[in-house]
Amino acid sequence: MHVVETVAEARAAVRQAVRPLGLVPTMGYLHEGHLSLVRRAREESATLAATIFVNPTQFGPTEDYATYPRNLERDLGLLREAGVDLVFAPTVEEMYPPGYDTYVTIGSVAERLEGAARPGHFRGVATVVAKLFNLLQPDRAYFGQKDAQQVVVIRKLVADLNLTVEVVALPIVREPDGLALSSRNVYLSPPERQAALVLWHSLQTVEARFRAGERDAEQLRGAMRAVLAAEPLAEVDYVSVADAATLDELSRVDRPTLVSLAVRIGRTRLIDNFVLGVEG
Ligand code: PAF
Repeated sequence: MHVVETVAEARAAVRQAVRPLGLVPTMGYLHEGHLSLVRRAREESATLAATIFVNPTQFGPTEDYATYPRNLERDLGLLREAGVDLVFAPTVEEMYPPGYDTYVTIGSVAERLEGAARPGHFRGVATVVAKLFNLLQPDRAYFGQKDAQQVVVIRKLVADLNLTVEVVALPIVREPDGLALSSRNVYLSPPERQAALVLWHSLQTVEARFRAGERDAEQLRGAMRAVLAAEPLAEVDYVSVADAATLDELSRVDRPTLVSLAVRIGRTRLIDNFVLGVEG
C-alpha cells in the first residue's frame, strides 16, 4: 500500500493507476461502516484509493474539529489489511495552502436539515470532495448512506459540474442493537450509549406505522417525536420526512422518502435515517 501526503505524489500515483479506480474518501477513525465501503470498492476496482483527511472547512466554529477522533496508524493498518492500494493522507496546509480562497456552494439540497443546523458544513464537504475528485480522478466513489444528505449533495455536485465519477452509496452499518456506526459514538458515556438507541427506535416506529398504512407525513414525524420525547437524555434537533431526491418536506408519503433525524445525546450530536420505498 502506497501512502502519500502531497498533491504532487497523489497525482503521480494516479497517473500510473490501472483503471477502474475506486475511491473511498474518509475522515479516518475507521469503523465497520467505512470498511464495508472499502470491501465493496475493492471488489469493483482495479486500483483502490482511500483518503484520510479531517476536513476543517466542514466543521463550524463551535464544532468538534479539534477533538474529532484520529488514529492514523490504526487506520492505515485497517486499510492495508483490506487491500487498499493508495492512501492519500494530506495535511491541512497541503489541501488549503495560504491564500486558498475557492469554495463550492450547492443550492437548496444543501440548505435544509444538516445544512440548516450546521451552516457552511456542506460548502466544506462539497469543496473537499470536489478537490479529491479532481486530484484522484476516480471512476467510482463510495459513501455511506448514514450521511444521507451528504450523498444527495455529492450527487448534485457531480451532476451540476458534469463530473464523470459514479457515486455509489452503501447501506448504514449498525451495531447489533441498532445504533448506527459513527466515529462520534466514542464520545458517548455508557448511559448516553444506551440513550442513543432512541434514534433507531424512533425510526423503527415510523417504519411500523408506515407498514400499517400510515401515509400522513406529519403523523409520522409526530410518532418519531413521541418516541424521542420519552428519552430524557435526548434533545431533538430535527425530525424529517422528506422527498428522498429533493429533500423537500412531504405532507404525504407517496414517493421514495428519506426519514431522518438529528438528536443531541449529552454533548454528542447523532444523526440517523432510512429510506421508505413506495411501491408504484
Ligand atoms: O463523510 C465523511 O467522512 C466526510 O464528510 C468526507 C466525505 C470524507 C468529506 O470530508
